[in-house]
Amino acid sequence: MLDKLGWKKSDKVVQSVSERMENLRKDDVPNHIAIIMDGNGRWAKNRAMPRFVGHREGMQNIRRITRAANKLGVGAITLYAFSTENWKRPSKEVEFLMRLPEEFLNSFIPELMELNIRVEMIGEMEGVPDYTSRAIQHAMKETMNNDGMVLNFAFNYGSRREIVLAVQQLAKMVQDGTLEPQEITEDLITEYLMTAKLPEPDLLIRTSGEIRLSNFLLWQLAYTEFWFTEVHWPEFTDERLIEAIESFQKRNRRFGGLKGE
Ligand code: IPE
Ligand code: IPE
Ligand code: MG
Repeated sequence: MLDKLGWKKSDKVVQSVSERMENLRKDDVPNHIAIIMDGNGRWAKNRAMPRFVGHREGMQNIRRITRAANKLGVGAITLYAFSTENWKRPSKEVEFLMRLPEEFLNSFIPELMELNIRVEMIGEMEGVPDYTSRAIQHAMKETMNNDGMVLNFAFNYGSRREIVLAVQQLAKMVQDGTLEPQEITEDLITEYLMTAKLPEPDLLIRTSGEIRLSNFLLWQLAYTEFWFTEVHWPEFTDERLIEAIESFQKRNRRFGGLKGE
């Protein structure tokens, strides 16, 4: 269909964000989206500002993307917020990042309640400062009865560490005689990962141009669709999320089978 200017209705240029949102196939919205929120530092550097300004801006963007994902009918989003390797950063930056849950989550809770969103976390509380774990646990407790979208933070999370912990638990059961080695299946391993309650991600988004996983959900992403963008996380808007989902909806997920089967 052509409009007054002669643009095809399907052309992205003439579609507003809400039109593009409307045009997504509702029955094929990714149920679980995992996001590597990268590029806060570079966003700030490009503006001649210190890195922490980028982290604060990035944190604000979590609200925007949570709202958008919720509106789109996504079931869960897992946000990579702090990796087990991020401890290597200068202590001032690490401390700033550890303060963010406290600064951000409390003020976000009323909106999460209104939207029926439940906060969850993967990663280890051990090793993070008390004020950080308290803020995360508080948000989880306040929202625990919400049964809408899951907002899952990967905080002090590393996929290899997660796998090591799962293997240790299973090895202990074998040692105790409660599990036979041949009873260790893919499903059982999945159950012992920190993501046990969540479905596997359908879509992985990484912002800021890096084409790597940086120790994120290595087991869970086996058949996930990947979307990489140059856009830095603080500038990753609703429109970018829609763009990623539009691309997802054009993919043919085969899971090792044949097209159409
Ligand atoms: C992502 O932004 C946030 C965290 C890793 C905590 P970065 O801080 O990695 O930003 P860049 O990659 O240096 O630009
Ligand atoms: C991955 O980003 C971790 C988070 C977004 C929390 P990094 O910025 O730490 O990843 P590398 O170091 O570039 O691989
Ligand atoms: Mg980075």
